[in-house]
Amino acid sequence: MTEIITSDRRMRELIQLAKTVAQSKATVLIQGESGTGKELMASLVHENSTRSGRTFVAINCAAIPENLLESELFGYERGAFTGAVSSKAGKFEFANGGTLLLDEISEMDIRLQAKLLRVIQQGEVDRLGGRKPIGVDVRIIATTNRNLADCVREGSFREDLYYRLNVVNLTIPPLRERVGDVEILAKHFMSVYSSRNGKSLTGISTEALGLLQSHAWPGNVRELENVIERSVITTLGGVIAQSDLVLERNAMTGILNEELAQKSERTGWEPGRTLDDIEREVILKALNYHQGNRTHTARALGISIRTLRNKLSDYRHLGISV
Ligand SMILES: Nc1ncnc2c1ncn2[C@@H]1O[C@H](COP(=O)(O)OP(=O)(O)O)[C@@H](O)[C@H]1O
Ligand SMILES: [Mg+2]
Repeated sequence: MTEIITSDRRMRELIQLAKTVAQSKATVLIQGESGTGKELMASLVHENSTRSGRTFVAINCAAIPENLLESELFGYERGAFTGAVSSKAGKFEFANGGTLLLDEISEMDIRLQAKLLRVIQQGEVDRLGGRKPIGVDVRIIATTNRNLADCVREGSFREDLYYRLNVVNLTIPPLRERVGDVEILAKHFMSVYSSRNGKSLTGISTEALGLLQSHAWPGNVRELENVIERSVITTLGGVIAQSDLVLERNAMTGILNEELAQKSERTGWEPGRTLDDIEREVILKALNYHQGNRTHTARALGISIRTLRNKLSDYRHLGISV
């Protein structure tokens, strides 16, 4: 069940609107900077709709090359192109009766946009190389971290499709515009990651909280979640202190770097972590999953128990309780 944590009045109104429009079949366009919770909002819409018992299919338009995106969305028949050795249903067919999330729609090629518009208007998809259209009943939710109206003005997004998608618009404010959310989100993530990592943290120091509240959060809630997760894993004390927080410097000085955030979103990579950090995180998570059983953890990670033991002992020397 999707839970959107907030104490912000605008956010509450958005959530209420999302739940109300969920009941209809209206297309929903969710806008907002990277990490503001667009996918979360999309799941909320699906869960509160009459389609909640059916599938929720998501596809990231930015992550998939154009020709692949086309066959992923619309499916293909055997022999439609070299390599199409058997036929395959597209995401529209998979989502039949349910919801299809088109994540980062602004990145969709203009030619595909035309095809998408046809599907929305006619309620039918044509598989690549297919002979007859297939009827589909799909609720569409699109998200974007760019201003789609700007994209229309620049000519990179079809105006007719924009109006089709923008029946209901939910624009999520960036985290820096709802500073009141920083504390409850930070505490929420602290308790989530404390229990996940077998730690018992009791709070966040006043100084640490002040720092969090003055940060510009170019990566929004996703960035806050990562910062808290990391501090939970590395802190030596019972509360998160200022020294436990690793915030990106450019953002700390208040310089907003939306481009960097978008780059992270596009590539799935958040800078600021070393391979050691990631390895430690994975090992501690796996250990937690296996309830502290080292034999099982080592086997699952494909390393020797001796290697695991050495790494855990390194972490203990760093002051991380394992
Ligand atoms: N209000 C919120 N309450 C709890 N978790 C949130 C909230 N907003 C965002 N998140 C979390 O932050 C991360 C990024 O959210 P996501 O929906 O993927 O953002 P976007 O799609 O806008 O980039 C996810 O882990 C999500 O669960
Ligand atoms: Mg997203």
